[in-house]
Amino acid sequence: MKSTKPFPEMKQATKGSRALESPESRRSWLRRLGLGAMLVAVAGQAYTLLRALVPNVLYEEPQRFKAGLPDQFPEGATFFEDRRVFVFREQKTFYAVSAVCTHLGCTVKMINLSQPKKVQIKGRLVEERREFHCPCHGSKYYGDGTNYAGPAPGPLAWYRLEVAPEDGQLVVDLSERVSQSFRLTV
Ligand code: FES
Repeated sequence: MKSTKPFPEMKQATKGSRALESPESRRSWLRRLGLGAMLVAVAGQAYTLLRALVPNVLYEEPQRFKAGLPDQFPEGATFFEDRRVFVFREQKTFYAVSAVCTHLGCTVKMINLSQPKKVQIKGRLVEERREFHCPCHGSKYYGDGTNYAGPAPGPLAWYRLEVAPEDGQLVVDLSERVSQSFRLTV
């Protein structure tokens, strides 16, 4: 007759399953689960509390900046790459034109024309010596920033220029747009 004794490993498995199924071990497992959930909830609350103490501040560059003394500017254009603005000098007058394309914000390039050309801008005949071209999608602007080709929806911005009373430097105010007739005479 064959023996009906279980294999030793089968015996062990049966013992282990019984151990997990005991009310005592189930209670302790549930206790640990509860403790873990509580710790996660406390950590979440602590994070929310600490986050509320840190203000949502955007560290942006100031919109006004000193560009230098008027005498230091050469005749024509000076490009401030980090601010994406051109400051133009025509003898004693100054003005600032944005280099930010009004389509999707690429930086336009200034093109000095080899031959001056006459163009009609808003009904006025103007002699052009330079233009701005956008390398991204082909928008083109006349020298005064008026858009005339490509997808740009509007002209390049002009910004207010001032002289700082404390040291005589030119101040470009990127927060204040002015008309294309703006000139600062120093
Ligand atoms: S960003 Fe200048 S044409 Fe599109």
